Amino acid sequence: MSNRLNTTPNDLRAFWMPFTANRQFKQNPRMMVAAKDMHFTAADGRQILDGTAGLWCVNAGHCRPLITEAIRQQAGELDYAPAFQMGHPKAFELANRLMDIAPDNMANVLYTNSGSESVETALKVALAYHRARGDGSRFRLIGRERGYHGVNFGGISVGGIVANRKMFGTLLTGVDHLPHTHQPDKNAFTRGEPEHGADLADELQRIVTLHDPSTIAAVIVEPVAGSTGVLIPPKGYLKRLREICTRHGILLIFDEVITGYGRLGSAFAAQHFDIKPDIIVTAKGLTNGVVPMGAVFVTAEIHDAFMQGPEHLIEFFHGYTYSGNPIACAAALGTLETYKQEGLFERAAELAPYWEEALHSLKGEPHVIDIRNIGLVGAIELEPIAGEPTKRAFSAFVRAWEKGALIRTTGDIIALSPPLIISKSQIDELIDCVRSVLNEVA
Ligand SMILES: Cc1ncc(COP(=O)(O)O)c(C=O)c1O
Repeated sequence: MSNRLNTTPNDLRAFWMPFTANRQFKQNPRMMVAAKDMHFTAADGRQILDGTAGLWCVNAGHCRPLITEAIRQQAGELDYAPAFQMGHPKAFELANRLMDIAPDNMANVLYTNSGSESVETALKVALAYHRARGDGSRFRLIGRERGYHGVNFGGISVGGIVANRKMFGTLLTGVDHLPHTHQPDKNAFTRGEPEHGADLADELQRIVTLHDPSTIAAVIVEPVAGSTGVLIPPKGYLKRLREICTRHGILLIFDEVITGYGRLGSAFAAQHFDIKPDIIVTAKGLTNGVVPMGAVFVTAEIHDAFMQGPEHLIEFFHGYTYSGNPIACAAALGTLETYKQEGLFERAAELAPYWEEALHSLKGEPHVIDIRNIGLVGAIELEPIAGEPTKRAFSAFVRAWEKGALIRTTGDIIALSPPLIISKSQIDELIDCVRSVLNEVA
């Protein structure tokens, strides 16, 4: 038998874990030592059903052969090529494959190593684009309350999750925020897109009037806000944002780090909602979470605005040592091939009604005050314990782990986003686990 299952490290002090209750974890660690398809193997040998695709990224399931093999081969063939002033074929092949599945107004791809870096890249492209066109007074960026755009300074400035912002000083200047779209008094227990709230997009018009359109570079939103606890856009809301941006020459950036690569049942949310943003931010599902990588898509108009001046000069002063890293590109190509061969985006669309039904069967269980769903995403919002926000959901998370399922919680919201290979019986298993947990937690 493999001795991998016995490798729990006995000293957990040195690693300061990200977005983790470190002291709680280290008293009672939740260690994973292996994964295959829909399951993790815990250090004690238990099988854990993955209800969250890792962190919204393992869309094709774990340790998939095409991806593993692509990485293995690439590591033995070309491990690294300098990203600046040099190239390698897979970076170009991947960009073309991405443009095959992207909305048809997208033309060019910039590579990054994470969602956070993709966000920074998109914001910088937006600012520099206006300047390259001689419209450099457009310096303002508009985000949204409760938005999550990663953890770097641009991202937390346009983001709207208070805990992620409040410790870090003045952030970027010239940023304003749209109101969030969560209206539980009107929309609780809606299946899919809520009826109420399209008018919240008109707040953009108010912000534009306040600052004058000539000062605004871009609006960035998650088409479905994920990390804040799954806020589905009200019917017509995104279309109105698009119209207002178009009217005033403002770029619309969709942060599709969660919604990209099949989560809603089409390659990107832009296609699902039939909206054409100017820039799309992606990461996570691009490589199935296996190798860190992100990609930012832009229109030809944006790209071409930079292609001027003497040809020996660098057109855009931005990039990373690992932009388009060969092993990351190989992983992404293996991932896209897996999605295609197995029809996983279509599979997500087919499973969505079953998923919706299963999720909403939790209505009436203890503590449940709202349930939301779209594609293969779901949220179960719990009544917080008075005076102890987040505690109930955190207890549910720990209890689910003990019972054999990985769920995710944010605030007092349980967020579910399984790999797109989940079966109907595994959906039942996941939802039954949540049901029994809700009946156990205080
Ligand atoms: C919408 C969105 N943008 C950006 C990010 C940041 O991605 P990363 O953690 O890869 O930096 C995330 C991560 O969850 C996200 O959900």
